[in-house]
Amino acid sequence: MESFAGLVFANLDTEALPLGDQTGGFLDDLTSAAAKIDDLVRVESYEVSVAANWKTILDNNHECYHCSVNHPTLMKIVDYDSKARWSDDGITFTHGVERMLVDNGAYDIGTTLEQEAMFGYIWPTTVPLVFPGSPSLFIFHLIPTGPETTIERWDFLLGHEEPSGQERRLMNYIKNVLVAEDVRLCENVQQGLHSRGYTQGRFVVDRNNVNFSEHHVHFFQKMVRDALAEDKSCHSAEQRHLPS
Ligand SMILES: [Fe+2]
Repeated sequence: MESFAGLVFANLDTEALPLGDQTGGFLDDLTSAAAKIDDLVRVESYEVSVAANWKTILDNNHECYHCSVNHPTLMKIVDYDSKARWSDDGITFTHGVERMLVDNGAYDIGTTLEQEAMFGYIWPTTVPLVFPGSPSLFIFHLIPTGPETTIERWDFLLGHEEPSGQERRLMNYIKNVLVAEDVRLCENVQQGLHSRGYTQGRFVVDRNNVNFSEHHVHFFQKMVRDALAEDKSCHSAEQRHLPS
């Protein structure tokens, strides 16, 4: 168990490497992106049930190819088209995105901007999100509850316990608009995976244009494949009574 910026990370693997050894520069990037991260306090938590496999949800989370169609308001808040930067390091990735319009129809970013946007990921099921505006950090965890059902557990962290009007609008926007848009999309994708016409997808990859590139979906699916292969080799070794 390790703590970072008030967050507690647990790994049940007794052979697990330290968090910093697995995450490269990610924790530094998160500290830079989320203003006053050490002082943030949790002001709200809630859960969302999604009729989709947890990997379907993360496939969606790992690309913004769907954003301009699925999240028209988000695209007025952040400039994914020309200014998004990305990194992947160990078991993490980031998309760093500059803010766009102060007057964007979702929430008031404010003129004294204290942080830009950074959308991150920590394998396997943790998604930290930084939105433009006052100091804040939003994190959701995925809890698989069945082959086609998942619970998203959201935690909203702010610089103080009583949200301002602007912060309340941001939280309402994430909960009622952004998350709802992705839940609808993921549930449709999950249904589509049952189609007889579906066999295997293709990735759209252009690392210079993270606004539509799916290289982080590939990044994620490789980790899933490696974890399953490792699990399979452990089980077969146990069955043969060999050391795993
Ligand atoms: Fe989305």
